[in-house]
Amino acid sequence: MIFTSFLRIGAVALVLLGNSLGALRSFSVDHKNDCFRKDGEEFRYISGSIHYSRIPRVYWKDRLLKMYMAGLNTIQTYVPWNFHEPSPNQYIFNGDRDLENFLQLAQDIGLLVILRPGPYICAEWDMGGLPAWLLKKKAIVLRSSDPNYIAAVDTWMGKLLPMMKPFLYQNGGPIISVQVENEYGSYFTCDYNYMRHLSKLFRGHLGDEVVLFTTDGAGLAYLKCGSIQGLYATVDFGPGNHMIAAFDAQRHAEPHGPLVNSEFYPGWLDHWGSHHATVSTAIVVKSLNEILALKANVNLYMFIGGTNFGYWNGANNPYTPQPTSYDYDAPLTEAGDLTDKYFAIRDVIKTYRKIPEGPIPPPTPKYAYGAVKMTKLQTVSSALEQLSFSGPVKRTYPMSFIELNQAFGFVLYRTKLPVNCSSPTPLSSPLNGVHDRAYVSVDGVPVGILERNKGLTINITGSSGSQVDLLVENMGRINYGSGINDFKGLVSNLTLGKDVLSDWTMYSLNIDEAVSQGLIQETQVPDSSQPASLALPTFYRGSFLIPDGIPDLPQDTYILFPGWRKGQVWINGFNLGRYWPARGPQVTLFVPASVLSTAAPNNVTVLELEVSPCTTGSCVVEFTKTPILNATVSTAHRRKLFLRGG
Ligand SMILES: *[C@@H]1O[C@H](CO)[C@@H](O)[C@H](O)[C@H]1NC(C)=O
Ligand SMILES: *[C@@H]1O[C@H](CO)[C@@H](O)[C@H](O)[C@H]1NC(C)=O
Ligand SMILES: *[C@@H]1O[C@H](CO)[C@@H](O)[C@H](O)[C@H]1NC(C)=O
Ligand SMILES: *[C@@H]1O[C@H](CO)[C@@H](O)[C@H](O)[C@H]1NC(C)=O
Ligand SMILES: *[C@@H]1O[C@H](CO)[C@@H](O)[C@H](O)[C@H]1NC(C)=O
Repeated sequence: MIFTSFLRIGAVALVLLGNSLGALRSFSVDHKNDCFRKDGEEFRYISGSIHYSRIPRVYWKDRLLKMYMAGLNTIQTYVPWNFHEPSPNQYIFNGDRDLENFLQLAQDIGLLVILRPGPYICAEWDMGGLPAWLLKKKAIVLRSSDPNYIAAVDTWMGKLLPMMKPFLYQNGGPIISVQVENEYGSYFTCDYNYMRHLSKLFRGHLGDEVVLFTTDGAGLAYLKCGSIQGLYATVDFGPGNHMIAAFDAQRHAEPHGPLVNSEFYPGWLDHWGSHHATVSTAIVVKSLNEILALKANVNLYMFIGGTNFGYWNGANNPYTPQPTSYDYDAPLTEAGDLTDKYFAIRDVIKTYRKIPEGPIPPPTPKYAYGAVKMTKLQTVSSALEQLSFSGPVKRTYPMSFIELNQAFGFVLYRTKLPVNCSSPTPLSSPLNGVHDRAYVSVDGVPVGILERNKGLTINITGSSGSQVDLLVENMGRINYGSGINDFKGLVSNLTLGKDVLSDWTMYSLNIDEAVSQGLIQETQVPDSSQPASLALPTFYRGSFLIPDGIPDLPQDTYILFPGWRKGQVWINGFNLGRYWPARGPQVTLFVPASVLSTAAPNNVTVLELEVSPCTTGSCVVEFTKTPILNATVSTAHRRKLFLRGG
């Protein structure tokens, strides 16, 4: 408490200083002395990445305080364009998307900010932060001077950057520097006109004084296309012993000025079907120490990873989606808790700068609400009237999500068998066009799953005229590399035997709205008594009360899916994300207390896509106190990929 009021006084003093001595606030690159200069003084930042889009707003302050108490003087955050402009010219900057409030909180706590507004951000975020609606122009060349792309970027930056301008350091705010694009040198277009355009656009909105910079992999090949004159070139690299070579690469682009590692990785990302990534504290500490000893500036990516709530996760190429948790094995866990890595990093920082005194906010308490009995509701196919607000669209050949005006979630594709298939006949996607996973049924009987890159054919039987349903799931758009134009749905034709299937009826599904409006009904159709390996995609619902008489409830918790396989889960209409314990490595999903209610029963809605445990075992989900992010995954799904992060 004393600590908080101290901070408030600090913030007031800072504001007064900003107002009366505004002219003295300056931040610049000092080429002569190889450093940054803040208010005329030599300055070095020790920063950490935090993405407000991955943390509920009520927890922003707690996480920022913990970062401040670790000894960081700066934070770095991405601005995901698609989080703020879900459809053209429709902007959201309130609630969990209130960027201005986030920046203000950082400043009040005493942290400077490095802003990374993209437009492309990578970040293991859907499509690297680019809005899917850009793909309505089918041939658009993203991240280039394609006029269609540039027009959308100009409109967006014309909204965002003027909003950011008052938050620049020289204008009294916390933002010391602004990144232009992200790792552009890793992208195939290598379009200098695009980078020049962005540079002019940013300057035009933000003024001549602000430090604009680029970030690229620490190799000359990356810097070749990623860096341009007028933008200070920085590099990114993880712990290891190639540090001198990495900074040499930066020196090649910037012979003078501060050394900067914009993304130093104290952890790493996960993919469904691969082992949970961890990075040892010892190697992080050793490398961080070496970087700081070189007087370099550093940003730890991530300092807290947080959560890909809803459908926000991205994917790598060859197609491998990231899970819901973005824990990142970071110094603060997904739930914002302090780790040994946190304290070890703090100890290193302590040897280079005076770090704040006072108590570090404790871990947020967790509560195990226990098992919640689930009841079967309608299947997706039987609830189309409730789920498809716009009704079906009919076409000879399948349309993609974006052609159907849908960005995320699920679309149901329906057609009829044109011929008798009395013997097993291959239903195939010869061009690998199921993006990304299709749950297939014939006449209401589940028959198999098609999956991008992994399962392009199943055999089906049925008679001419049998109804074929494919519920197609968008599992997250590719966020890195040349595959970011990632169309979803059935993006090429399906074949049955030798014939191309035609005459499709397609249902856009408003599942999130239907769940929060409670439109999905209970069902009279009992689960078959036969245990099956696959069932129709089906909704389930349960509810639980926050117990009385225990102080400080509701608290954070983790939801566990014993016997469930893959699906999506909502609590009180809030989309927590995807669960897929059958593939791993993530098993529990983080449930922030902010989505729970003490005023009414809490409603858990599950869409199980494969098969629930309800016919064979106990039909429950469970709330526990401990996360499991590292379950062993079956070797069949293990893949070795060369991937870059950030
Ligand atoms: C399909 O089989 C049914 C009987 O099983 C038969 O009546 C029908 O004529 C067949 N249709 C085609 C197109 O072969
Ligand atoms: C489909 O059936 C054929 C013939 O029975 C069989 O050779 C093939 O392996 C099956 N394919 C799949 C994907 O099950
Ligand atoms: C499906 O095939 C038809 C006929 O060959 C073609 O016109 C159409 O573009 C294809 N559709 C997709 C989505 O590939
Ligand atoms: C859960 O659903 C019930 C029934 O629709 C509703 O009365 C209650 O308010 C909901 N709970 C919350 C926290 O929204
Ligand atoms: C998962 O992590 C926990 C906690 O760090 C550890 O105790 C456990 O051994 C790990 N399990 C596997 C399979 O690696």
